[in-house]
Amino acid sequence: MKFFIDTANLDQIKEAMDLGILDGVTTNPSLMAKEGIVGVDNVMNHYTAICELVDGDVSAEVIATDFEGMIKEGEMLADLHPNIVVKIPMTIPGIKAISYLTQQDIKTNCTLVFSSGQAILAAKAGATYVSPFIGRIDDIGWDGMELINEIAEIYAMQDFDTEILAASIRNPKHIIDAALSGADVVTCPLDAILGLAKHPLTDIGLEKFLADHKKANQGH
Ligand code: G3P
Repeated sequence: MKFFIDTANLDQIKEAMDLGILDGVTTNPSLMAKEGIVGVDNVMNHYTAICELVDGDVSAEVIATDFEGMIKEGEMLADLHPNIVVKIPMTIPGIKAISYLTQQDIKTNCTLVFSSGQAILAAKAGATYVSPFIGRIDDIGWDGMELINEIAEIYAMQDFDTEILAASIRNPKHIIDAALSGADVVTCPLDAILGLAKHPLTDIGLEKFLADHKKANQGH
C-alpha cells in the first residue's frame, strides 16, 4: 500500500519525506487556502515546489467545474511537472474530463467519491486513482470503510486498473482499516502517519531497556 500525505504544507511534506516512507502527495483547494497560497502564479509555483520535493505522484485539483475549463486547467497543471496528477471532482463534466485527459496520457485522481456507483464511473473513464472520502462518510454516521471494501471487491471482480486512494483519513485506525479493506493508497495528515508508530508498551519497554543498561553499566 502506498502512503501519500494530504497537505500543501512544505515542512510537513519534508518531515514525511525524511521518514523514508512517502510515495506521494495530495492537495485540494482547501489545503492550498490553508497555507495562504492564492493567485494562479503562486498556486502553480507551489505545486512545482511540492513536485521538486517529492519523488512520486502529486495531486493538484482543478477549480473549473465545466468540461472545457477542467481540461484547460488539467493540461496546464500536467505541463508543470511529470509528477502532477490532475484531481477532478466526481461530476458529469468531471467524468468527461477524466476520459479526455486519460486519452492524452495525463494521470487523473477522481475526487469527492462517496459511492460505489461513482467509483465504477471513475474507473470506466480511466481514472488513475479514485478517492473515496472515508472520514466525511463516518462524519454523517455511515461507515466509510464499507465503501472501500465494496469498491475493492468490484474493481477486483471487474479487473479495473484504477487504484483506490483512501482519502479523508483522520487517524491511525483509518489507515489500518484501509489497508485491511484493500486500499492501494492512503492519503493522510502527518499526525495520522506519525500516530502509527505510537504504543505505550513501546515507550515503557524502551524506558526499561535504558534503565537496565544504565544500572548494569554504572561504574564502567
Ligand atoms: O484531499 C481530500 C481529503 O483527504 C479531505 O479530507 O479531512 O477534509 O475530509 P478531509
